[in-house]
Amino acid sequence: MIPESFIQDLLARVDIVDLVDSYVPLKKAGANYAACCPFHNEKSPSFTVSPTKQFYHCFGCGAHGTAIGFVMEYQGIGFVDAVKELASRTGMMVPESDGFSPEKLGQTRNLVEIMSRAAAYYKEQLRRSEKAIEYCKKRGLTGEIAARYGMGYAPDGWNNLQSVFPDYSNDDLKAAGLVIDNDSGRRYDRFRDRLMIPIVNPKGDIIAFGGRIIDQGEPKYLNSPETPLFEKGRELFGLPQARQAMRETDTAIVTEGYMDVIALAQNGVGNAVATLGTATTPTHVQKLLRQVDRIVFCFDGDNAGRKAAWRALENALEALADNKQIGFIFLPAEHDPDSFIREHGKAEFDRQVTRAMPLSDFLLRELAQRCDLTSSEGKAKLIYEAKPLLLKLPTPLLRLQLVKRLAEASGFAQQEVERLCELKSYAPAAPPRAKRSAPSLTRNLLRIVLHKPVLAAELPTELLPDTPERPALLRLQQLVRAGNGAQGYAALREQLRGLPEEQIIEAAASELLGLPFDEGEADAEFRATLEKLQDSGQMRQFAELQSKAQQFGVAGLSAAEKQAYIQFLTARGNRS
Ligand code: UTP
Ligand code: MN
Repeated sequence: MIPESFIQDLLARVDIVDLVDSYVPLKKAGANYAACCPFHNEKSPSFTVSPTKQFYHCFGCGAHGTAIGFVMEYQGIGFVDAVKELASRTGMMVPESDGFSPEKLGQTRNLVEIMSRAAAYYKEQLRRSEKAIEYCKKRGLTGEIAARYGMGYAPDGWNNLQSVFPDYSNDDLKAAGLVIDNDSGRRYDRFRDRLMIPIVNPKGDIIAFGGRIIDQGEPKYLNSPETPLFEKGRELFGLPQARQAMRETDTAIVTEGYMDVIALAQNGVGNAVATLGTATTPTHVQKLLRQVDRIVFCFDGDNAGRKAAWRALENALEALADNKQIGFIFLPAEHDPDSFIREHGKAEFDRQVTRAMPLSDFLLRELAQRCDLTSSEGKAKLIYEAKPLLLKLPTPLLRLQLVKRLAEASGFAQQEVERLCELKSYAPAAPPRAKRSAPSLTRNLLRIVLHKPVLAAELPTELLPDTPERPALLRLQQLVRAGNGAQGYAALREQLRGLPEEQIIEAAASELLGLPFDEGEADAEFRATLEKLQDSGQMRQFAELQSKAQQFGVAGLSAAEKQAYIQFLTARGNRS
């Protein structure tokens, strides 16, 4: 845990405008700064940075956060890493506390350094190995592509790394996964006589290696173990190299193999990445959908590849959004992406990408294949199998489409499918919040409090009606009363991570971007809104009493209610 106070100091020290501007050039736009959003593809700028509130918000894709959030999203790294990164930018020392000691920070840096030295050595060795160069050539790779992916060669022999690391017995070499200690304590190089493929994280650090045997042998690939730098299910091979092409095409192609990515790049398809010997995880999908609107899975044409595609579908569902698309390419059984593009060329591969099967088609086709849709049992099974998948989908529009098609295929009515799958049936209940419609009183309060958080301490909570903003206001009050209000929205925002109120608060904060009011006005607005709230609360109470009195007569009211009712009536009489 990093102490809260450090986060606050850090946010106070970093200027989000400078930070964002160093990645994405910003233009002044009124009180704020604007740019085309780095998290989705757009032609006109809807990405806004507030210098006074120190947060960014994209009106296009909803990306939203503080300086820390920006680094996390832009580099695809975790909270702790983003804090470290910002701290080092500002020359601050991250203080010691559980699980996050400077020692550990030092170790991470050490491991990164070790990996980079090893990679440089392997690269040099590739240059010197005719056999390894020959192998690359045989696979159609040029020196340029080998350099782009930082490829190298680990020569045969048990202790070659000793020449790079004279302190060969150092614990960190083992922690980095480069050496193995055998049972009798003898140490040897993990990678021997293998083509070395570094796995680079979005920051540009080498965090692991995949080592391919030259020609035949077992295992075909030897990979780095999980280390403090490397967690398989989170990382994607080729992501930094693919970034530019992903932006240009707004599409990411996900394959299973290192060599698939490299061969695609060699043949002009630069936007491919690979999972690392694991199934595609929701984290993978989430990471990619932050950067592109479309993912196309292209796995091997064999049975294993088809199974992997289905796993990918299952894991992609929860990360979907209605403005995102997922497609699947099913290659002929004898091909993987590498062999396919080498045999058929870029144009044909591009065609496959364009015509990839949409997720919904794949889902329905696969389920239909599992059920005999000519029988009642089969039709029932179809819905039974679809249910867990539909429940994972957070996308109301796509879900509705699927429900309609499932209804057609199963012979159930649409509502029956919804009920059987325990889905909330689609009803255009709340009209979409129009940008200019008058905000509710509690919405207004929430905005004011986000503008000047210290005011939250003074909220009379008993006055707050049961609106969606109420829990958010209570949460802000709790944080501010705990002493976290003085620094403004950005500092509060970091304490909201993962809380249920996070979203509504983000939305209300983004509404502030168009409303430049100053501190004094905030106080006046706050009081005026509270008064209106009180009035409307009383009106509601009066209406309730009145309807009760009309229904049951004044005798139907309790003593206290009677008294309140009479008070209302007199007050009204006085007013008119
Ligand atoms: P494949 O067997 O499909 O490899 O495994 P590939 O990418 O087509 O490799 P080439 O073309 O034969 O060189 C796909 C991925 O599964 C992991 C690797 O990440 C590989 O890229 N894998 C495979 C291993 O980790 N170990 C293995 O022994 C095999
Ligand atoms: Mn292959």
